[in-house]
Amino acid sequence: MQLPRPRGPLSAAVIDVLNGGDSAALPNDPPTPDDVLGDDDLQLALWTLYELHYRGFDQVADSWEWEPRLITVRRALEAMLLAALRAEVTVQQDDRRVADRLRRLIDADDGPPLSRYLQTRADRNQWLQFVVHRSVYQLKEADPHTWAIPRLPTRAKSALVEIQVDEYGGGDAARMHSELFRRVLTQLGLADEYGAYVDVVPGITLALSNIMSLFGLQRALRGALVGHLAAYEMTSSLPCRRYAKGLRRLGARDAACAFYDVHVTADALHEQVAAHDLCGGLAEAEPTLTEDIVFGAAACLHVDKRFAQHLLSSWDGGRTSLRRARNLAMAAS
Ligand SMILES: [Fe+2]
Ligand SMILES: [Fe+2]
Repeated sequence: MQLPRPRGPLSAAVIDVLNGGDSAALPNDPPTPDDVLGDDDLQLALWTLYELHYRGFDQVADSWEWEPRLITVRRALEAMLLAALRAEVTVQQDDRRVADRLRRLIDADDGPPLSRYLQTRADRNQWLQFVVHRSVYQLKEADPHTWAIPRLPTRAKSALVEIQVDEYGGGDAARMHSELFRRVLTQLGLADEYGAYVDVVPGITLALSNIMSLFGLQRALRGALVGHLAAYEMTSSLPCRRYAKGLRRLGARDAACAFYDVHVTADALHEQVAAHDLCGGLAEAEPTLTEDIVFGAAACLHVDKRFAQHLLSSWDGGRTSLRRARNLAMAAS
């Protein structure tokens, strides 16, 4: 993957260092923007730093992953992101079992009707935009949650592995969910290289990916990470049914819909395993993490809601939801 294009002084400093520039130019104490979750510069800088822990970039030495100056900047940006999430997300105290708390949280969620819009109204170009946004995470689907495996007690670990085996295709690379998503892209005539669309997605789209990396890379946030996964799995099955219907309404082939079709049934099971065995198992073994499990789920819903608001309000106003209007052709019809 190529390094992205900078969007401001912070991302410019990070990208410049990775291009061989002087690390002394990295800010010691970067200012906190007004809207951390939606800030293009901060989210891109953090996304770039996080990618060093996944597949990295062409022409950037692998050893940069643990470069102390970059870790210092990453920690400063992570502190801002976590503080913004803690400020924007409220979690009610409650004595119920964690699985019941997660269910109540999700039932009370009043996110905007993005999946319904994509099912019934979105035109081809809006659908392509949606897939472009999602490609930033879905081409590495499951990877951030895998960080939790060695950090969990027995029952929770077993539950997470059960989910991840499915996500990674159960030993069949073609069934890996990230590969199924690659087929959505190719069937729709879009680029399928990892990171191909990073330069055109806004900060809130990068934030969706960044909060998973934040929770995943810090063991202290393992409760939030599994709560995030549970919310993800518990809110996936019905929207995926709608997405598949929306794509077929526009004439897409079954191969373009397979990613969504698979999630209708897979996530109906994953949500049970995630809520009861993964989150329930962790809360039972480490009760002090219970509030963080619920926080992680609430943070997932919150950032997803902001993402959906961004798309729907852009489309409502007749604008593209991407940073630049792109000619996104839909090949399959
Ligand atoms: Fe999946
Ligand atoms: Fe799943």
